[in-house]
Amino acid sequence: MTEVVPEVLISEEKIRKRIGELAARISTDYADVDDLIMVGILKGSFIFLADLSRAVTIPRSVDFMALSTYGASESTETDGAVRMIMDLRRNITGKHVLVVEDIVDTGHTLSYLLRNLAARQPASLKTCVLVEKPERREVFTQIDYLGFSIPDVWVVGCGLDWAERFRTLPFIGVVHPGR
Ligand code: IMP
Repeated sequence: MTEVVPEVLISEEKIRKRIGELAARISTDYADVDDLIMVGILKGSFIFLADLSRAVTIPRSVDFMALSTYGASESTETDGAVRMIMDLRRNITGKHVLVVEDIVDTGHTLSYLLRNLAARQPASLKTCVLVEKPERREVFTQIDYLGFSIPDVWVVGCGLDWAERFRTLPFIGVVHPGR
């Protein structure tokens, strides 16, 4: 079996700079909010949420949800059915909520999540996504703050995995399994 070695697609430096820009925009947009709840979607968003939540300058707290796609392994070739495996600790009714997601691929996961959270009637609900693959989109998904648009490749690092590998790489890399 050949060793899978991720190729750098987006460098650590570029990611750091972009997260700083996103945090500055978020801090300005929510300048009047006294408790922004930043919701990370496990596992993929834990690194992005850690970096972003430390870079914003407004009062904020973090909470987590975990979702899973039916029948998913490392790929998203499914019918798009999503289920929740861990819910938020906090009640978000009347609160300002920013969903922090590592990647939007087909869009099914984020659109499920937004429907679920909107039903709890937060004061506002927005999304911040590190990377999206526009060519793969199957459903419309609201992305308010975006790090990077990438082509249709499998990426790892910054929380993103390939069969649980490479999540902790400091850059975003492309893997070419089977090459
Ligand atoms: P969706 O297709 O937008 O619903 O995304 C489903 C999930 O697939 C994401 O939350 C990720 O966990 C995973 N995913 C999609 N593309 C990639 C990728 O390139 N690398 C790592 N995970 C991915």
